[in-house]
Amino acid sequence: MTLPSPPASVLIRRAQPEEDVQHLDEIFRIVNTAYRSNAGWTHESHLIKDNRISKEGISQLLNDKVKVLLLAFDSASGRVLGTAQLDPAECNPELDDYKGEGEKDGGSSTYTESLPKTQIVHLGLLSIDPEHQSRGLGRQLVEAAMNYAKETLERRQAVVTVLYQRPELSNWYKRLGFIDYGEKKSYPDPSSTLQDNVHFTVLRRAL
Ligand SMILES: CC(C)(COP(=O)(O)OP(=O)(O)OC[C@H]1O[C@@H](n2cnc3c(N)ncnc32)[C@H](O)[C@@H]1OP(=O)(O)O)[C@@H](O)C(=O)NCCC(=O)NCCS
Repeated sequence: MTLPSPPASVLIRRAQPEEDVQHLDEIFRIVNTAYRSNAGWTHESHLIKDNRISKEGISQLLNDKVKVLLLAFDSASGRVLGTAQLDPAECNPELDDYKGEGEKDGGSSTYTESLPKTQIVHLGLLSIDPEHQSRGLGRQLVEAAMNYAKETLERRQAVVTVLYQRPELSNWYKRLGFIDYGEKKSYPDPSSTLQDNVHFTVLRRAL
């Protein structure tokens, strides 16, 4: 199958509250369609109900001084193509310090030392407009986010939490260099899940 070409030029930058409030409705549509509809090649609409984020939540994120919202734009049209969020791990009480217990699926662990939260960043709210998926944009956005985390936030490790019931997504992250060390995490709001035993697999990548 030949995939359509990605936009000729993609701009990825940190969102700014004044400049990007005009894109709030578009961000709302993209995130919630990507996560909670069946429009794209991977989603969680069969696992979690309701929207992934509210307009108020997006507005708070745009104005957050610590958490970083990255936006990907089609440079030619100025349209938003996708989103990614970077949270310093110390802002996330649900994340533990990493103790380095070895890689789950065999092979040697690339992280055997303990890392404090201040050296870890959490990657979340990763979404690409379903109309533009499978064109390499998700990979491009993750790489830009990893560079931002390393160079600007001065982090040494990125962590993502992926629903255990989404192996296609875990495999996608593994192709991007994330490693499953066997950590699990419970889903914070069991009342919104649509299946039993919905929980997270934790994946980490050295920066
Ligand atoms: C996950 C997501 C960001 C990926 O974005 P994307 O632009 O489609 O990603 P890319 O085009 O860079 O990569 C697509 C990859 O998936 C593969 N793929 C495409 N369709 C597929 C399918 N039906 N099954 C499995 N793999 C598939 C492609 O071959 C490609 O593989 P490669 O990385 O080895 O080249 C996007 O699907 C999305 O927004 N999903 C919903 C929100 C979400 O789940 N976010 C992550 C939460 S932790």
